[in-house]
Amino acid sequence: MDLGLSGRACVVTGASRGIGLETARRLTEAGAQVLLVGRGAEALDAAVRRVGGVACAADVTAPDAARRIVAACEDAFGGVDVLVNNAGTSYVRALADLEDEDWRLNHELHVMAPMRLMQLAAPRMAARGWGRIVNVCSSAGKRPSPMNAAYAVSKAGQLSLSRAFADAFAKDGVLVNAVAPGITASELWVGDGGMADQIAGQDGGTREEAIAARAAKAPLGRMSEPGEIADVIAFLCSDRASSVAGAAWSVDGGAVATIV
Ligand SMILES: NC(=O)c1ccc[n+]([C@@H]2O[C@H](COP(=O)([O-])OP(=O)(O)OC[C@H]3O[C@@H](n4cnc5c(N)ncnc54)[C@H](OP(=O)(O)O)[C@@H]3O)[C@@H](O)[C@H]2O)c1
Repeated sequence: MDLGLSGRACVVTGASRGIGLETARRLTEAGAQVLLVGRGAEALDAAVRRVGGVACAADVTAPDAARRIVAACEDAFGGVDVLVNNAGTSYVRALADLEDEDWRLNHELHVMAPMRLMQLAAPRMAARGWGRIVNVCSSAGKRPSPMNAAYAVSKAGQLSLSRAFADAFAKDGVLVNAVAPGITASELWVGDGGMADQIAGQDGGTREEAIAARAAKAPLGRMSEPGEIADVIAFLCSDRASSVAGAAWSVDGGAVATIV
């Protein structure tokens, strides 16, 4: 399928590994020009060597990050056609142990950072009459998980944010959608010190047991691979998704048991 992305200027945040890296790979494979954003410059450079594109080292929670990222994309590719707000993270912390700082940091990373990027990028896309924005949210935003309520609440906020921008910009040809991955085999979950290791540390089991227990909760019976999430993101970024706006597609192996 031709995604119609050839020559499109794309920003992917959190592109140095996991879901973001696989998204950048699919976009460059489709002929798009991609700005890969992340904090770690070395990891970003390695990602560019693997999938192509241009690196932009930035912490998306910095107040001037959105301005810097959009300017870098315009300098490199002459505009911004596609924005994937993917940068994010989580960790295991019980509700009783969450402090103000946890709630604030999660809100900054998953709501304020994508909001600032959309605030700058969406009007530019509207002026050109075409745009795609995908917000990488989480199944935890649809059904809070006990692993980290601050994360879940921020992801619910990100889903709402995505819908608000979708409503405001669809008439201009700028289509904004969300994906809600479930448990996915990126470093966030399966890397050293990741979610599986943190759960194993609490429960006294192994990383593999922690993964198996969580994966079994989805009808699919396994974790998703980062590339499986990226396939859906790339489709939503494409010309082919020309009548999808304001959606929040679950990509979770059936984990969130709702029919809408
Ligand atoms: N894996 C899952 O099970 C799962 C499930 C549902 C939703 N998600 C969501 O999917 C997205 C990607 O997660 P992933 O699993 O691919 O995680 P990952 O493998 O840990 O990758 C996260 C990426 O985000 C970047 N990043 C983190 N904080 C950043 C910041 N402040 N500024 C700029 N870049 C930042 C990281 O690079 P640096 O550290 O170098 O900045 C890295 O490139 C996240 O929004 C996550 O919430 C993941």
